[in-house]
Amino acid sequence: MEIVVSGTRPTGVLHLGNYFGAVRNYVRMSEDPNYTCYFFIADYHSLTTHHQPAELTKLVKQTIATYLACGLDPKKVVIYIQSHLPQIPELYLLLNMLAYKGELEKVATFKEKIKMHSENINAGLMTYPVLMASDIIIHRAHKVPVGKDQEQHLEMTRNFAKRFNSRYDVDFFPEPVAYNFGSELIKVPGLDGSLKMSKSGAANNAVYLDDGDDEIRRKVMKAKTDGGPTEPNQVKPQEIKNIFELMDIVSAPDTIRHFNDAYNNCNIRYGDMKKQLAEDMIKCIAPFRQKINELLVNEDYLHKVVRKGGEAARESADKTISGVKKIMGLNYF
Ligand code: ADP
Ligand code: TRP
Repeated sequence: MEIVVSGTRPTGVLHLGNYFGAVRNYVRMSEDPNYTCYFFIADYHSLTTHHQPAELTKLVKQTIATYLACGLDPKKVVIYIQSHLPQIPELYLLLNMLAYKGELEKVATFKEKIKMHSENINAGLMTYPVLMASDIIIHRAHKVPVGKDQEQHLEMTRNFAKRFNSRYDVDFFPEPVAYNFGSELIKVPGLDGSLKMSKSGAANNAVYLDDGDDEIRRKVMKAKTDGGPTEPNQVKPQEIKNIFELMDIVSAPDTIRHFNDAYNNCNIRYGDMKKQLAEDMIKCIAPFRQKINELLVNEDYLHKVVRKGGEAARESADKTISGVKKIMGLNYF
């Protein structure tokens, strides 16, 4: 049995990038009997940037509801909240002794974040990859379904796991890999012409799984386009490439072919293309929205899911921490 672990920061209802880049793979892996899966809400990670306490409580519930609405079955997988496992910060503290300032300062997400939050460059932000590694290796995971943007964090996780093994001359932690079911890691682009759909992007960058039909139409119709191709088979500029990539994700092959041919023949009408994209997104999103809203009113059920998940996750985490302490000589009596 291989162990699978992944998590999402509770920064709101998830968007199409989170779904196609990560959560859809969580669901697929959860249906494969060869995997034991742990999926969690990374609430500690959202404290690395300033947060609103009342907002966080709401967002955690929304993320649990979204996981369930996307098809994660709590009977098949362990769903829990990161802060319900005291073993994670314990392992984080121990791993911090093996993490070097120089390597943490070089991480791309850290460099980006310190540019965005120059007033709040805290130690938690710098050690974000150490906490993430702890999340993963606390269950001695083999595979981690994530989007392409997390590859560097996974590389660091492997470094910490290898370093622990070699420092103590053991073969205790496997080296976990970033995983996308049967294909390459993907990056879903934003509607504003940016390379990545993101919760922290511009207002109409992301389409959320609970967006209303009209909201989706409005966002898609506002997507950036250009004056149109002037020569047959012209290379697509980024914002047009993005619209085609989004279509690849939600539309039928015939629809994609139709607009590609129109682009290559210079008779594409972006308005028509965007209308079609919006309708295809709506078809994909409407069932999620309905389920999220149904689940959100059932707080008792959401609580039951993470309470039960927390128990199972703590049991697995305890085994790892006991092993780590023994290896490190922290077991005295
Ligand atoms: P965001 O970047 O929107 O704040 P998170 O960092 O919480 O989202 O990401 C949660 C998961 O979704 C991660 O596995 C991440 O790799 C994936 N993900 C986020 N945005 C995208 C995207 N645009 N394309 C593919 N995967 C994505
Ligand atoms: N860093 C991840 C993100 O921004 C979230 C995350 C935290 C995570 N811990 C993890 C993902 C462990 C996979 C495994 O999306």
